[in-house]
Amino acid sequence: MKPTNLSPIRVGLLGIGTVGSGTYNVLQRNQEEIRRRAGRGIEITMVADLDVARAKAAVGAGVQVVDDARKVVTSPDVDIVIELIGGYGIAKQLVLEAIEAGKHVVTANKALLAVHGTEIFAAAHRKGVMVAFEAAVAGGIPIIKALREGLTANSIQWIAGIINGTTNFILSEMRDKGLDFDVVLKEAQRLGYAEADPTFDIEGVDAGHKVTLMSAIAFGIPVQFDKAYVEGITGLAAQDIRYAEQLGYRIKLLGITKRAANGIELRVHPSLVPAKRLIANVEGAMNAVVVQGDAVGTTLYYGKGAGSEPTASAVIADLVDIARLHTADPEHRVPHLAFQPDAMSDLPVVPMSEVVTSYYLRLKVADEAGVLAKVTGILASAGISIDAVLQREADEVGGEGSTHTDLIILTHECQEAKMTGALAQMQALPTVLAPITRIRKEELA
Ligand code: NDP
Ligand code: HSE
Repeated sequence: MKPTNLSPIRVGLLGIGTVGSGTYNVLQRNQEEIRRRAGRGIEITMVADLDVARAKAAVGAGVQVVDDARKVVTSPDVDIVIELIGGYGIAKQLVLEAIEAGKHVVTANKALLAVHGTEIFAAAHRKGVMVAFEAAVAGGIPIIKALREGLTANSIQWIAGIINGTTNFILSEMRDKGLDFDVVLKEAQRLGYAEADPTFDIEGVDAGHKVTLMSAIAFGIPVQFDKAYVEGITGLAAQDIRYAEQLGYRIKLLGITKRAANGIELRVHPSLVPAKRLIANVEGAMNAVVVQGDAVGTTLYYGKGAGSEPTASAVIADLVDIARLHTADPEHRVPHLAFQPDAMSDLPVVPMSEVVTSYYLRLKVADEAGVLAKVTGILASAGISIDAVLQREADEVGGEGSTHTDLIILTHECQEAKMTGALAQMQALPTVLAPITRIRKEELA
């Protein structure tokens, strides 16, 4: 059922938690300006949440609150469904049912789209409805709009982003305040930054979901989270953050996608970034995304990547887009993934073993003559050249009379498989006393 131009567009909200309540509040607060921008009012008329009492307390008297989200997706009085429940379970069924019922969908659910996006976008295309997801990547930063529309002239070369606020908050607080990992994670949860399951944040999965979506839009490939390389921050030690600083770098959890000779790189892992880069100085829960396009050069997008109202800002931008575009011929709308569905590329995602990058290595070694020569000999015979070496005094590392020390090596670029082979050989040396730490290094030049 199509509303007239004059009547407000009616929105059903699924899940009124952190982002849902922010969306309701911002829409209420700014309704007059939003109406002037959209050309008509946008009203949340129906809300579904498991906690009906809490939901009723969060909204005005004119809003119908139900505990069964299906009532919203099937209601003839709802034009747009906002899915803010999260996860791949009930959220997937509800989104597909809403599409089937001919409703446009707005979602912040990157997990759902990175894993089931192909099915969801195909269903939306068949029904001629929009699935908008600005809030799914980098919270309040309009990066989807930038990639899909603002940079549409460019052949994108690479994207590198701090796209998980929780982990950036943890790394910043650990570095600046010397706080423990677990303490900072609890604070991130309290502030509403973390996912329902915070292992998604700290193991890099959430950033993997987001970079998968950006990669699809940038390179016109299907969403394929299953091919992404994902490594989080749980293996990072405080001394690596310190050593990186001494070498002029910061450690950041980066989501990277890059056009390479053999396909598209798609990876998330902690990375050393030169301290002089703007992105290296993005702190706390802030996000930043660097996009390199062939025509525009380097562009940087910065802002709040998580939290109630910053994320609501992106959700409402999608609502306004839909309010403006829903009467347009579906063929003339911006495609969900920027490229026309019949013009997608089959470029493969490059296996991690074939990715070329440079490395930071930390070896705990016996403090005796010849150790450095053996280690550098292994790297040389693998064809890996060294950029810098930092060897700490044993006393400084292990206390007075210590018989071990830390050896830090920065390498030039080499293929991951070569480095993995060399690491296995170094690890087998009797003078290497603990598992070697390997962190990739990105110059982002
Ligand atoms: P919350 O957990 O705060 O909110 C989810 C809400 O959905 C809760 O109120 C929950 O109720 C309700 N809910 C759960 N199951 C159902 C159901 N079957 N029917 C109706 N309501 C239900 O999550 P967030 O607001 O933080 O996140 C929502 C989405 O936004 C997620 O996909 C998340 O990844 C994404 N996102 C979040 C950001 C953030 O900063 N928080 C930023 C960007 C994206 P109950 O509490 O009773 O379980
Ligand atoms: N848990 C996510 C983060 C929320 O910390 O970035 C925003 O997507």
